[in-house]
Parts: sequence; C-alpha cells; structure tokens
Amino acid sequence: MGTWPDGPDGGPGQQVGIGGSTPHDPRAAAKGDSVMRENGTVTGGGASTAGGHVPVMLERVLDLLGPALTRPGAVAVDANLGLGGHAEALLAAHPSLHLIGIDRDATAIERSAARLAPYGERITLVHAVSDELPEVLRRTGHPRVDAVLFDLGVSSPQLDETERGFAYAHDAPLDMRMDRDQELTAEHVVNTYSAGELTRILREYGEERFASRIAGLIVRERRKAAITSTGRLVDIVRAAIPAATRRTGGNPAKRTFQALRIEVNGELAALERALPAALDALAVGGRIAVLAYHSLEDRLVKQALVARAKETGPPDLPIPIPAHQPSFRLITRGAELPGEEEIARNPRAASARLRAAERIREPVD
Ligand SMILES: C[S@@+](CC[C@H](N)C(=O)[O-])C[C@H]1O[C@@H](n2cnc3c(N)ncnc32)[C@H](O)[C@@H]1O
Repeated sequence: MGTWPDGPDGGPGQQVGIGGSTPHDPRAAAKGDSVMRENGTVTGGGASTAGGHVPVMLERVLDLLGPALTRPGAVAVDANLGLGGHAEALLAAHPSLHLIGIDRDATAIERSAARLAPYGERITLVHAVSDELPEVLRRTGHPRVDAVLFDLGVSSPQLDETERGFAYAHDAPLDMRMDRDQELTAEHVVNTYSAGELTRILREYGEERFASRIAGLIVRERRKAAITSTGRLVDIVRAAIPAATRRTGGNPAKRTFQALRIEVNGELAALERALPAALDALAVGGRIAVLAYHSLEDRLVKQALVARAKETGPPDLPIPIPAHQPSFRLITRGAELPGEEEIARNPRAASARLRAAERIREPVD
C-alpha cells in the first residue's frame, strides 16, 4: 500500500519527473509504482479540474500557514492532496512556493496533477501514504519544510463514486479502499474478522453503542452467504439495532461505515505515525495545520501538538532547562470550527476541526 517497491531499474522505486526534465510517465500511478511528478504534465484521469471537492476552511488554512511561507522558495507539504483544492490555493497565494502533494489514492494524484499542471515545476506529487513522509522528503531532496497540511479522511469523489463502496447511501461492492492497490477491503473485514474483532472495531472506530449486536448479526448473516454489498450491510445494521434508535439520528449505518473505513485504510495508525514525522520535518518558523473530521482523529492531533507545545521537565525547577522547553507553540485556541455560512454552503465541512502549531525552536538533546 503506497510503499516504495522496487522499480524496473532495480532501484528503490520509480521517480517520475524528479529533477524537472523527465516527461510524464503514464504508468506512474499504476499498481506497484510509487509516483513522483514534477511539472504536473498528467493529461489523463478525466479531471474536472476544479470541481468535485470543496476545500474546507480554506481561508483559515491559508491564514494559518501563510506566515511560514513568505520566504522565497518555501516548501509546503499537502499530506492529503485529494483534488488539490487547498494545494492550488497555497500555490496561487505564494508565487515561489514549491508544493509536495501526497495521496494514497492514485486517482486523486491523477486528477490533482491535471488541476495543478499550470504550476509546472512548482509541484511534486507522490502516490504514498502520509506516514511515508520522511522517505518522500528524503527522495524529493527537502528534508526540512516550511508547512505541512493534513486534510484527513475521504474526499468527495471517493464518497460520490458509488463503486468505491464508501457510501452507505448507495448499493455498491464492499470495498472502501483509498488505495485500490492494497489487498484489504471492507468485504474481507466483514466476512473474516471474528465477532470480537468486529465489535472492537465498531466500538473504537465507530463509537457504536450497538457494536456487539451488529457484529453478532454480521457473523450470523455471513454464514448464510458472504456479505459483498454495502446495501446488504446497511440492512444488517438496521436490523441489528433497536427500532426506537433506528428512528433517530440519521442513517444507522453511518458509524459502522466510518469504523470499517478506518480499519480498512489503517487511518488512525497512519495518522499516529505521520503527525510526529511532519512535526519533525518542520523548520523553525514552520507551521502545521490539521483538519480532522471525527473525534478519534482530532484527539490524536490534539495530543501530538500539545505534547510538543508544553514544557517537559518538572514544574518546580528554578531555571528553565533548554531540553525541557517546548519546540512548538499552538496557533489555534483549541480546535477551530467552520462557520455556519460555510456549513450551509458545504455540509461536508460540518464535522471539521482545525488545529495548528508553529515550530519555535529546534529540539535540544
Ligand atoms: C479530504 S480529502 C483532501 C481534499 C483536499 N484538501 C482538497 O482540497 O481537494 C482527503 C484525501 O486524503 C487521502 N488520504 C487519506 N488518508 C491518507 C493517508 N494516510 N495518506 C495519504 N493520503 C491519504 C484520501 O485519499 C483523500 O484523497
């Protein structure tokens, strides 16, 4: 899944366009390739360039990251490139900015490459998981960067393309993979995990109070026939929860789908590794902004940022010890939320929580 497999040259993976002169390789986003592109010369992918995903809290993200991007040749990482909405706005706002865009979904890379093509050599797009950031930065020759943006979760195209199986509102194969090269699918999880494992996932990742009832019914139903469609799973969840609850709080399958998506894509584990890597990569004055969409993500973000923004030594030391001083300061007060006007325009922004921090010193060993 988005690793750096050996390329045809026997090297540690294929790079496309590194150094700025290699033309676009149409195989680059194909199975097994790691992709790096400069020039944004992709023409495929059918990108309706600007359409499809409305970037969330865009102005605020630009405000928060802007002060870190004023130096000529500043480098920003968009660790969840998606359709490149935030990336495009950053590139437009900072004319000498170089942007490294990462996404584990090859389709997202294809589409944003087309959208960002006008920025030519100023972009490097990489098909990878965000926790591969250190390797991406090493290979792109930018060990330290000035800004990192995470815009977590799924993109609108992933939700809207029915056949990807992310949406409980449409009947589709039980897939839910962001990276369609990976093996684990929601179908595999639903049909092979034990009742105990399913219960844990639904409880932890979906915060589903009827986790064991749903897991129990999944296990019973799959004995009759494998569960292969989102529609059948929705019916099972609906049947597993009490009738009174069914009538309140939207689609009862919402939490189950969130839980399965998190499990299939290893989302929290990837985030737990990616956040410290991003913080480590920031130069002094560099800034990180993270948009999270559910409490589990936001909790990890809060913990990672707060841990770096507080003194680590005993509170009663007479003289501050450099090694104990925080290396970051928080630049948002708690988590910021989108305004009502944005939510009215873009309901998918409703659950967003934005946190940001700035590196104020190098860590002292
Ligand atoms: C909410 S969308 C980003 C939208 C983007 N900011 C825009 O304005 O178009 C999230 C994207 O992150 C990608 N993604 C999710 N988890 C990832 C991970 N761990 N590593 C890399 N990409 C990831 C998804 O494939 C999806 O395309």
